[in-house]
Amino acid sequence: MERVYNFSAGPAVLPLPVLEQARDEMVMFGDSGMSVMEMSHRSKVYMAIIAKAESLLRSLLGIPDSYAVLLLQGGASLQFSMIPMNLLTQPEQQSVDYVLTGSWAEKALAEAKKQRVDARVAATTKGVNYARIPTQAELVLNPQAAYLHITSNNTIFGTEYYYTPESGEVPLVADISSNVLSRPMEISRYGLLYAGAQKNLGPSGVTVVIVRRDLLGRRSDLPQMLDYKVHADNDSMFNTPPTYAIYILGLVLQWTQEQGGVAAMEQRNIRKAAKLYAAIDNSSFYHCPTEKVSRSRMNVPFTLADASKDALFLAEAKKVGLVTLAGHRSVGGMRASIYNAMPEEGVDALISFMADFERMHG
Ligand SMILES: Cc1ncc(COP(=O)(O)O)c(C=O)c1O
Repeated sequence: MERVYNFSAGPAVLPLPVLEQARDEMVMFGDSGMSVMEMSHRSKVYMAIIAKAESLLRSLLGIPDSYAVLLLQGGASLQFSMIPMNLLTQPEQQSVDYVLTGSWAEKALAEAKKQRVDARVAATTKGVNYARIPTQAELVLNPQAAYLHITSNNTIFGTEYYYTPESGEVPLVADISSNVLSRPMEISRYGLLYAGAQKNLGPSGVTVVIVRRDLLGRRSDLPQMLDYKVHADNDSMFNTPPTYAIYILGLVLQWTQEQGGVAAMEQRNIRKAAKLYAAIDNSSFYHCPTEKVSRSRMNVPFTLADASKDALFLAEAKKVGLVTLAGHRSVGGMRASIYNAMPEEGVDALISFMADFERMHG
């Protein structure tokens, strides 16, 4: 059996060289005599692995020293709760702003509300089925808000921000789960950024939080595991970190650096996305529901003119090694996730399959 082109939204395709290196080092890492999975997280050899992962992430994203990098568990979903817990000092008397651009933003807002804070919607594009990102002019911002939350790439609806919202003194918080490392980001414009790893960073199990250090320690009554400061003070070693996931994260970061870093990834991603969107737009059989200005380079949703052919499309695609193309269960249709590790040939293969399918069934 050959490896397929996997268009999954996450967990998603990983670079083949990463998998091969992990395979080669699986049973014995270097001269340690054991697998990374078996190592004490406090051993010298493991400390070097986690330190390297952090330093690669810092250099790839240009993270200033004034930001802590935390490698946590619980996924991006736990951050929906940890963010309001950590950034609010007196929830009952404070408010926070959320921009709603899809299901993940809705979930983040719902969790914030549970902290008894006045969580406001600064803008929403739900009225157009989240087909685009609101413009800066559309954001109704509260200058007193404890933070402004955005979702930089909307994995399900396939939209992405192409500007960094201006939030004045209010810390900008971004869920970058599905476009981290896909292009340069100006970290100093944000108070906090977070990402579950299972798209551009590595396997599920580790969650990256990048937080401005002056935002740490606002609360002293949090459970320790939910307190950013505890994790920052302990270099993400307060308890046993997800050791193997962090090791793979390090390999993915190394690979990203070898590809030329995030600027080179961006150029590749622009090319990949442009040709796929062009193939959709130039056909009368396929349709992309998102507006051109906001189209994601990572997640490309599309529908078939005849939805009764969806199952056939997926089955035929699978036969030629193109898998996990079904849209999210909440929206239907198709979705091709073309993260950093999806080779350009994978996108080419999909485009050519789509043309063949249209010829035969369109
Ligand atoms: C943008 C975004 N935010 C949050 C999540 C939830 O992440 P997790 O499953 O790591 O909690 C996802 C998952 O796909 C996502 O795409």
